[in-house]
Amino acid sequence: MVISKRIEKLGSGVFDRNDHRKELYRTTSSIQGKLPMVDLSLGSTDLSPPPVVLEAIAAALTDPKSHSYCLHASTSAFREAVAFWAESRFGVRVDPEREVLLLVGSQEGTAHLPLAVLDPGDSALIMDPSYPSHLGGMVLADANIHCLRLRHEEDWRPDFQSLSQNDWDQIKMMVCGFPHNPTAQVGHQSWLDEAMSIGIQHQVVVAHDNPYVDLALDGEAPLLLHSEGWRECGIEFFSFSKGWCMGGFRLAFAIGAEPLIKALRQLKAVVDFNQSLALQKGGIAALSHAANWPKNLLGIYRKRRDRTLQVLNDIGWHTPVPSMALYLWLPLPEWAKDQGYTDETLAIELLDETGIALTPGSGFGLGGRNWLRLALVRSSEDLEEAIGRISLWWDAKI
Ligand SMILES: Cc1ncc(COP(=O)(O)O)c(C=O)c1O
Repeated sequence: MVISKRIEKLGSGVFDRNDHRKELYRTTSSIQGKLPMVDLSLGSTDLSPPPVVLEAIAAALTDPKSHSYCLHASTSAFREAVAFWAESRFGVRVDPEREVLLLVGSQEGTAHLPLAVLDPGDSALIMDPSYPSHLGGMVLADANIHCLRLRHEEDWRPDFQSLSQNDWDQIKMMVCGFPHNPTAQVGHQSWLDEAMSIGIQHQVVVAHDNPYVDLALDGEAPLLLHSEGWRECGIEFFSFSKGWCMGGFRLAFAIGAEPLIKALRQLKAVVDFNQSLALQKGGIAALSHAANWPKNLLGIYRKRRDRTLQVLNDIGWHTPVPSMALYLWLPLPEWAKDQGYTDETLAIELLDETGIALTPGSGFGLGGRNWLRLALVRSSEDLEEAIGRISLWWDAKI
């Protein structure tokens, strides 16, 4: 059987590898008398979508239109709700016909965009570390991929000036995302302003992946739509997965420069038929009647963050305070480095010995090496259980 070199190059993503290990743990733990797993490795929350969303989806499920294919024209009510939200939430007026596109998750959008923008061999830039679809999409598009390393010592700030004018002249597209997964830092508007201004100067498409826009715990999340010039060559991705807890429903949208929206729409016409009208109705309800839902989650995540950090700091696992909800970004402990662990081997051992699943940072790129991501996506009780087990394990290791 012939498989493309592209697939070989994609390799197996961190979530895939982790999934495999978790499945193994799940199926063998009870036979081996191990504790049940507490999965803190995915940004898939235990919290619920707004009732108004679930009611809208349920009411629309039996409508025959909900089980028909849904071409672009049938997404117009959804796109209008997006435009209404963009104006009321950010004060940005957008054209729902030409500047908005429905997506089957922002992951899908960021993975497909390079195919719509790049030709094979074109240079493109991602942040390192970054969400895996940023790299994956560029691999699928056969891009010549450059990585801009984000560093803890620099508060994970992208140093765009570290690339030469000549580098920027070669680059056709860059993808970034703040608030930033996995480092859990909100970032600054000035970073996007700078990216956009470079984009205009060097004709670089600037894609901003912003599913956490409403989930800053400290400060304000940056927004590409607030950066001057986005209508020339910018596109921003938003999602219902995090702020409205709808990850499994796979619904998101892009707002961007008309030619980019048009190209992505053309590409997606080959790939999918949008989402079901029932799910779109859920999205419309979220944007129109539950726009403040993400704000309700902040107190819950802040409490989870503070309690987990307190226990980790007490045992000596000193962890930077994240400024966004959902994640902690844990440095590989010094004792673990001394004992020869990598982030991946430590995560494997932690799972095996305690049943706690974290994500090894190197799965997000070399810049994530020596870090682990813990997602605060379980109840307080489960998190207490998890940090209790981690504490016992830690004491036995040092
Ligand atoms: C930066 C980033 N982009 C995209 C996604 C996926 O979002 P969606 O569920 O909308 O595909 C995630 C999920 O964790 C993410 O962290």
